[in-house]
Amino acid sequence: MKVLCDLTVTRNQPLGGALWAATLEIPPAAGAVLPEVKAGRFAMLRCGAEDALDFRRPFSFAQLSEQAGSFSILYRVVGERTEWLSRAKPGQQLSALLPLGNAFSPPRDGSPVLLVGGGVGVAPLLLLAQELAAAGCKPVPLYFGAATASELALEFVRAFPVELHAATDDRTYGYPGTVVANLLADGLPEGAQLYACGPRPMLEALRAALPPRTPVQASLEEVMACGIGACYGCAVMTDGLGAEAMKLVCRDGPVFDLWRLCPC
Ligand SMILES: Cc1cc2nc3c(=O)[nH]c(=O)nc-3n(C[C@H](O)[C@H](O)[C@H](O)COP(=O)(O)OP(=O)(O)OC[C@H]3O[C@@H](n4cnc5c(N)ncnc54)[C@H](O)[C@@H]3O)c2cc1C
Ligand code: FES
Repeated sequence: MKVLCDLTVTRNQPLGGALWAATLEIPPAAGAVLPEVKAGRFAMLRCGAEDALDFRRPFSFAQLSEQAGSFSILYRVVGERTEWLSRAKPGQQLSALLPLGNAFSPPRDGSPVLLVGGGVGVAPLLLLAQELAAAGCKPVPLYFGAATASELALEFVRAFPVELHAATDDRTYGYPGTVVANLLADGLPEGAQLYACGPRPMLEALRAALPPRTPVQASLEEVMACGIGACYGCAVMTDGLGAEAMKLVCRDGPVFDLWRLCPC
């Protein structure tokens, strides 16, 4: 089920650097979608005053409160629409189409789970940690890398049930280097199952570093225009045959088996 509805901003706060978190309330009439708000899935939010398709942008669900009928997003101000969003005050209505895309699949029983996030790619992993905790798992290791300490949103991230392993490229906090280097330095537990989201170079570095076929569910953050499979702007190539090889991140993803994606 997908719904088009007006969300209400109940909170919008800066977290340091260019990072912000917004809490968005789903109207009671659309409350039936709440159980379908899952880690990995996303919402297209209209970040602009006018009703133009160009103003919709994809954002991952980072936190869910079914009781309050709301979810939160973690976002980075990078351009016009995210800048507009950072100026939204509580009470602002945002037109949204949600929930879109597929979700992370639950881990196999007993496999050690590792989360690997780069930048705002950490957002869907936070909701995944929340879901795993609700299913009775103890806090899972989260390997989280950012360019610099101010881009780690530490206070926000620490509120989730994770065992945080932070890394910064400029060595200002945590492990001095990339998130993948941090993960390798600590070693991979036997039978580990990984969930990853971040820029493509991070995912490629992960693929290069891991023993082949280590299970990795990777969520992609391609640039999207429509979010509903209409524009083909988010196409990626996988190892399928012929036309089957092309997948749309918005419709077939954003979560893919890392080993099935063609290196870019
Ligand atoms: C499934 C999905 C989930 C996402 N979840 C989040 C999230 O939780 N938090 C968050 O902050 N962002 C997320 N993004 C990215 C977010 O949608 C973009 O940052 C946003 O659309 C930028 O809009 P803008 O108008 O501010 O910037 P624009 O003016 O559109 O772009 C500004 C700059 O950012 C680059 N850019 C735009 N989109 C992306 C992208 N997807 N990846 C890399 N570079 C991009 C542009 O090429 C340009 O250089 C997600 C993207 C996808 C596809
Ligand atoms: S964003 Fe238009 S097809 Fe995926």
